[in-house]
Amino acid sequence: MSPFRLTRTLPEDATGAALRADVLAGLTRRPRSLPPKWFYDARGSELFDEITALPEYYPTRAEREILLARAGEIAAATGARTLVELGSGSSDKTRHLLDELDRLHTYVPVDVSESALAAAGSALAAERPGLHVHALVADFTSEVALPDTPGPRLVAFLGGTVGNLLPAERAAFLTSVRALLEPGDALLLGTDLVKDPAVLLAAYDDAAGVTAAFNRNVLRVLDRELGADFDAEAFGHVAVWDAEREWIEMRLRSHGARTVKIPALDLAVDFADGEELRTEVSAKFRPEGVAAELAAAGLERTHWWTDREDRFALSLSVAR
Ligand code: SAH
Ligand code: TRP
Repeated sequence: MSPFRLTRTLPEDATGAALRADVLAGLTRRPRSLPPKWFYDARGSELFDEITALPEYYPTRAEREILLARAGEIAAATGARTLVELGSGSSDKTRHLLDELDRLHTYVPVDVSESALAAAGSALAAERPGLHVHALVADFTSEVALPDTPGPRLVAFLGGTVGNLLPAERAAFLTSVRALLEPGDALLLGTDLVKDPAVLLAAYDDAAGVTAAFNRNVLRVLDRELGADFDAEAFGHVAVWDAEREWIEMRLRSHGARTVKIPALDLAVDFADGEELRTEVSAKFRPEGVAAELAAAGLERTHWWTDREDRFALSLSVAR
């Protein structure tokens, strides 16, 4: 059994205070919106894992194919001794990387979902004698305080999760990632690519309704944490392709007019019949756009790999 530690970097009520602030800001303006990180309570993390196994949801399989083919090259190019993974979730695909990173000393999975982190981190530590696993419960959109571990450092951000940030948030995020790196350290970034909208829409509106359940789960989180009375089943799941901004937008649409009470905020929110709440964007990328955004943050893209069907890309960048 190798060393496993879990550190909560958020103060006791940080999650509650941040949730209240986000919900108040998002529900008191129009169009109404919520930030995506609140999807991932224990149930949300389970539902996301179910999404990754759906026939329509190709990103996980495409990224796994690339990792399997390229993990050796990634290990050789980085010589990483510390692997930090942001939004690590189940850390499932990460195993392919861990298999090849032969100089690795410590793996630092970072996630807001403590249940997912604890399960994935302890399993990995048990599986991999000699690997230090130091899990961090932290929000990757705020400053992440990393443990003092040997370099070179490789930061991985997989799953296309970078696309869930809005463009300005993305620029700030990439700059903050650059600040975690010393010159010569690297970033491994997974980005989903622009493609036929029909393929994209199916991936975010599957036939079995798992994505719809995942989307609605955010309302259950608000009911539980803030005493709200959203009736999650009264909201329909909507996925739209925004061709101009090249992102999928996930929304919840109120069936009928209703007033939702949120006691923890002393707030009542009116929804008109058919009114939509934006819960998430998932941006899709083009190769030149990814390179430009990385360069703007002081990261030089050195490798670009796609799956055989050119659906998804992994890029490796070095800090200058
Ligand atoms: N990397 C995994 C999981 C992707 S789902 C994969 O590729 O399959 C996105 C993950 O990011 C979830 O585990 C979620 O809990 C986490 N997450 C979302 N927003 C976050 C934030 N602001 N800070 C830290 N983790 C976050
Ligand atoms: N990072 C994933 C993506 O953009 C998250 C995701 C997949 C998601 N399906 C979803 C988020 C449905 C909200 C709703 O592909």
